[in-house]
Amino acid sequence: MATVRSLRAKAGDEPITMLTAYDAPTARIVDEAGIDIILVGDSMGNASLGYDSTLPVTVEEMHSRTAAVARATDDALVVADMPFLSFGVDEAASIENCGCMLKEADADAVKLESGPHTVELTERLVQLGIPVMAHLGLTPQRVKELGLSRQGTDRDDAREIMDLAKKHAEAGAFSLVLEHVPANLAQQVTEAIDIPTIGIGAGPDCDGQVLVINDVVGMGDSVPPFAAQFGDVKSEMESAVDSYRDAVESGEFPADEHSHVEGDLDELY
Ligand code: KIV
Ligand code: NA
Repeated sequence: MATVRSLRAKAGDEPITMLTAYDAPTARIVDEAGIDIILVGDSMGNASLGYDSTLPVTVEEMHSRTAAVARATDDALVVADMPFLSFGVDEAASIENCGCMLKEADADAVKLESGPHTVELTERLVQLGIPVMAHLGLTPQRVKELGLSRQGTDRDDAREIMDLAKKHAEAGAFSLVLEHVPANLAQQVTEAIDIPTIGIGAGPDCDGQVLVINDVVGMGDSVPPFAAQFGDVKSEMESAVDSYRDAVESGEFPADEHSHVEGDLDELY
């Protein structure tokens, strides 16, 4: 069983691999491939639920998808991504929302889009036994404020990310996602803190890499510039659905082998 401790031991030796999943069959594939961490990302808002940002994702949606992923995962660490405003408003509500991901949905950890407002909360959650993954750089829950552009591009912004990275490491976060920041900033943050960094659009020097599963397998709608596609599942699905439609319309499906005739059922009316 993966724990946040075994993950920390791996960092620096071999790159940590992380992918998102939002349902059981996908989680099973990712887990069986030996990926270290499965993130039930709030990217499910765009990738799976048809929203045009992550903001509408609810605690109930995250809870349901995390539970599905956890049921299908044997080895990987399962991380539940806490939805917009489900944390950081009120401490008791934050603890309850994060806690239910472990207590009921069987996640191993939670991820919080981090900022000055999550330093104390991270410390409190860790004290209570809820492992926390931090997330700095581009934090899509701030899309209304920041858009989706690269972060940490000037010295002041880069210093702020460095400072918050150190504060979250000190607060007890077990790892840190760095999203869409310059590679030379990510490299320095990785040097400066002793918890593993996991990059997405953050260059090659992080301790690990994460991408959204839809982008990796070729199911993505709007693929960010830093993502890479390693398969073409969308074409496969389109061709399977086309073939099914054609087979039904032409009468080829169902064939004899898909049908069953029971004796003595004639003349029922
Ligand atoms: O929601 C998500 O998929 C994420 C990753 C891109 C880190 O937060
Ligand atoms: Na996210």
